[in-house]
Amino acid sequence: MKRKDVLGLLDLSAEEIDEILSVGMNMKKLLRQNIKKLPHLQGKSVTTLFYENSTRTRCSFELAAKYMGAHTVNISASSSSVTKGETLVDTGKTLDAMKNDVIVIRHPMGGAPHLLAKTVKAHVVNAGDGMNEHPSQALLDMLTMRENFGGIEGLKVAILGDIRHSRVAKSNLFGLRKLGAEVSMFAPRTLIPAEIDKMGAKVCRSREEAVEGADVVMGLRIQLERQQGGNFPSLGEYAKYYGVNDEVMKYAKPGALVMHPGPVNRGVELTSALIDGDTSRIEEQVLSGIAVRMAILFLLTKEEV
Ligand code: CP
Repeated sequence: MKRKDVLGLLDLSAEEIDEILSVGMNMKKLLRQNIKKLPHLQGKSVTTLFYENSTRTRCSFELAAKYMGAHTVNISASSSSVTKGETLVDTGKTLDAMKNDVIVIRHPMGGAPHLLAKTVKAHVVNAGDGMNEHPSQALLDMLTMRENFGGIEGLKVAILGDIRHSRVAKSNLFGLRKLGAEVSMFAPRTLIPAEIDKMGAKVCRSREEAVEGADVVMGLRIQLERQQGGNFPSLGEYAKYYGVNDEVMKYAKPGALVMHPGPVNRGVELTSALIDGDTSRIEEQVLSGIAVRMAILFLLTKEEV
């Protein structure tokens, strides 16, 4: 991969996505053997710069960097000089001056990682920007699918939940379509973004239609922190009329996989039985997360090693 930054799957070619997934598969094999000491990032510094909360993404980028021998620094906006008024660009320049090699950024504003990438020498990885993209999440979802099905081409993936506020939905749509999968989507009309069909999604009128013949059913979190109110009556009614349960799963292919990027609102997007069931790959997604982030960090910095 010959690029400075990973900002979104809209920008990546099918070949680049395939390369990340191939390296990610190898990294996952090593992780399954409990190998957590690799030389790929020795002498490099990786900073996670998070302006929003995170468990999975921040932790797995940090572990990915550490398992490959990098020095790691974590910055939370709430405990940094951002609270004193420092701008994003000045924060980035400060990290550059410290000879930092990679900045992994999560920010509530769409486009913030792109601005940072233009102004710093360090490689920038988008760990989620507002409602725009979350490329490493979609890549780990695709890695999980590739491992389970042997490939992505021809898969049917149903995505149900808060699609409007979801950067995960958009990154998955871009990536899955580039690799030849079909993507169907369902949500209350208030949670479907305008023109998502023009980006390649099949927007469905019912959860049964979306799930019909699916290989993978992916629930997305109802993003309570981003709701302006009035998008649906209550979480209970959302679960009853829009959530995925055993009855809805009967429309999918037998043994279809259940996925969710997390964090999950248990019993809302998916029933607890599905989250904890045999077809759930939610915990496997977490391991894929470390593997794919190892692949991203390695491929971005490898020319310099
Ligand atoms: N899936 C995801 O981005 O989770 P976190 O918010 O915990 O990082």
